[in-house]
Amino acid sequence: MNISIIGTGYVGLVTGTCLAETGNNVLCIDIDENKVKRMNNGEVPIYEPHLDLLFHRNIKASRLHFSKSLKEGLEHGDIIFLALPTPEDEDGSADLSYVLGAAQEIGKLLKNYKVIVDKSTVPVGTSEKVRHVISSVTDVEFDVVSNPEFLREGFAVDDFLKPERIVIGSNSDKATALMEKLYKPFVRSGNPIIVMDEKSAELTKYAANSFLATKITFMNEIANFCEKVGADVDKVRAGMGTDSRIGKRFLFPGIGYGGSCFPKDVKALYKSGKDEGYEFDILNAVIRVNDLQKKILIPRITSYFNGDVRNKTFAIWGLAFKPETDDIREAPALYIIDELLKNGAKVQVFDPEAMPNVKRQFGDQLIFSANMYAALKSADALIICTEWSIFRTPDFERLKNNLNNPVIFDGRNLYDVEDMEKEGFYYRSIGRNFKKA
Ligand code: UDX
Repeated sequence: MNISIIGTGYVGLVTGTCLAETGNNVLCIDIDENKVKRMNNGEVPIYEPHLDLLFHRNIKASRLHFSKSLKEGLEHGDIIFLALPTPEDEDGSADLSYVLGAAQEIGKLLKNYKVIVDKSTVPVGTSEKVRHVISSVTDVEFDVVSNPEFLREGFAVDDFLKPERIVIGSNSDKATALMEKLYKPFVRSGNPIIVMDEKSAELTKYAANSFLATKITFMNEIANFCEKVGADVDKVRAGMGTDSRIGKRFLFPGIGYGGSCFPKDVKALYKSGKDEGYEFDILNAVIRVNDLQKKILIPRITSYFNGDVRNKTFAIWGLAFKPETDDIREAPALYIIDELLKNGAKVQVFDPEAMPNVKRQFGDQLIFSANMYAALKSADALIICTEWSIFRTPDFERLKNNLNNPVIFDGRNLYDVEDMEKEGFYYRSIGRNFKKA
């Protein structure tokens, strides 16, 4: 099939590349001329495992192309994916100006039947708005379909190629049939394509992400309470997670969820509720608890240093909001760095992928280290913010030799509490037997 993707951000590029991988002829459109030029020169603009390989393979096979012309996009694709940003507006709602702006342009350019697919995460009712905007400028036949993505950063290619489910929100049999044909190669293993009305599809995405954010937040609160009573959240997690109704995944406490999706989607669903006169009490609590969790290490660190971190040096391992990505949007590390700098501390950081992005934001205020051990040099404590694999089995002797004090604040529970005590560290993690404070 001929497919066009409007928007080559993280979702658009992964979608385009993976659809090319199953033999479709894909044209990706972006308004950023420079980005289009770079992609045409074979440069992958984001870091995502395995994307590089697929990207080059499909360009070489002439199945993946890039252009800045929306007109070309409209001429090329039988199915047109909208993978445009829906950033958080000032009031927490999703800003639809990119999606609706593109819809209007598409309407003006439409010459024959197309399926327009909303891939962006959009509030309930957006497909209807897109349809309205397009039909107000054209008489040509078209359909709008909602097809939310469930791609995790770091696993996006895998998630796209082997999805647990595909959700299609459609009120047209013709559009549904085309979408099912497109996705068939991805669900040969028997995973379902779930077809529903478009409003339910739009809500499915928000409900799924908000539920996962709630699950994590619940565990963060259980972890905080474990510390009050001297229990071990790892054991509680194991005890709970074996109940198949609860499940083992997404029960790992830490320093709060971040990223480009959860924070924005939870707030947008809360705001949609408010707009309809419905108060999502649970989401309000999730937002509040997560904001606190992101800074939970700060009072612990300050109190360890007797209320004063001025002129103290901190090493931070991990800046990305999670491993296997260079994405720092809403990353807990940024909140911690902000607080430490505000309180007069010096901060030395290391992250395998995210340092260039952090450098753009913080510039000379931080020391960017060449490797994880260099970041420890003469630091008064180590703070772990992201669970990159490389941090899981460090050389503890080297760690002790480099640090001024053997002190670790671990926001991701990477090490055994007992092992660390044996190694001679002051080791504070999340929710594991901490009665001493
Ligand atoms: C998420 C959704 O999982 C994906 O389906 C979606 O459509 C996009 O948003 P992503 O933002 O890439 O994906 O990250 P994910 O792996 O889901 O993690 C989100 C956040 O939760 C991270 O900050 C992570 O550190 C945190 N998390 C996750 C925990 O704190 N504990 C857990 O047990 C799991």
